[in-house]
Amino acid sequence: MQRYSRDGIVTLEAGLPIWERFFTVAPLVLIGTREASKSYDLAPKHMAFPISWDNYFGFICTPRHRTYQNIQREGEFTVSYVRPGQLVLTSLAAAPRCGEEDDDKPSLMALPTFPASKVNGVFARDGYAFLECTLERVVDGFGENSLLAGRIVAAHAHQDSLRASERDDQEIIHEAPLMAYLYPGRFATIDRTYSFPFPAGFKR
Ligand SMILES: Cc1cc2nc3c(=O)[nH]c(=O)nc-3n(C[C@H](O)[C@H](O)[C@H](O)COP(=O)(O)O)c2cc1C
Repeated sequence: MQRYSRDGIVTLEAGLPIWERFFTVAPLVLIGTREASKSYDLAPKHMAFPISWDNYFGFICTPRHRTYQNIQREGEFTVSYVRPGQLVLTSLAAAPRCGEEDDDKPSLMALPTFPASKVNGVFARDGYAFLECTLERVVDGFGENSLLAGRIVAAHAHQDSLRASERDDQEIIHEAPLMAYLYPGRFATIDRTYSFPFPAGFKR
């Protein structure tokens, strides 16, 4: 195997997960599902992204999590994009359950929610963008993780975060900052941004 340490580049051991060796930027969302007990679950995910320019959303989840099991059973889920001010409550949504099997997460009692309109689920109230998804497909087998792909059947956004012709994009983000999750284990508040320098004639 060719090694690049001479140029200041170190070859990592590809037989082990590499993602804890350097930082990458990710969003942070709360995935909402309905439990078998009929209560609602919210769990943080950072491996979460649009799938296509059209209205599809996907995230990575292990089948061990209740989120995965709930979505396989119910066929739908919600997505709340959280703000920096929700950091602690978002993290607490990953706190362990009370018991081994059937218990809900007590930390969720501190997280204000509101109901979705088309799917059976809730959103985290203080988020800025909200998606309602029906399960399109599950792709298992990325190691012990799976891709859950959903079709967005309804979407909502807080007024303060909505782009509009009379509002400057930088001003929107400055007034309603975004949260970035820097895996593994750091976060940043984004409130200052710059236009992307697309090449002349660029088309999607
Ligand atoms: C900041 C943060 C990001 C996370 N991102 C993911 C992720 O992308 N995929 C995943 O499967 N778990 C992720 N987790 C872990 C779970 O969401 C978490 O353990 C959760 O409690 C599982 O809950 P559930 O059993 O109700 O699904 C993350 C946890 C934290 C704190």
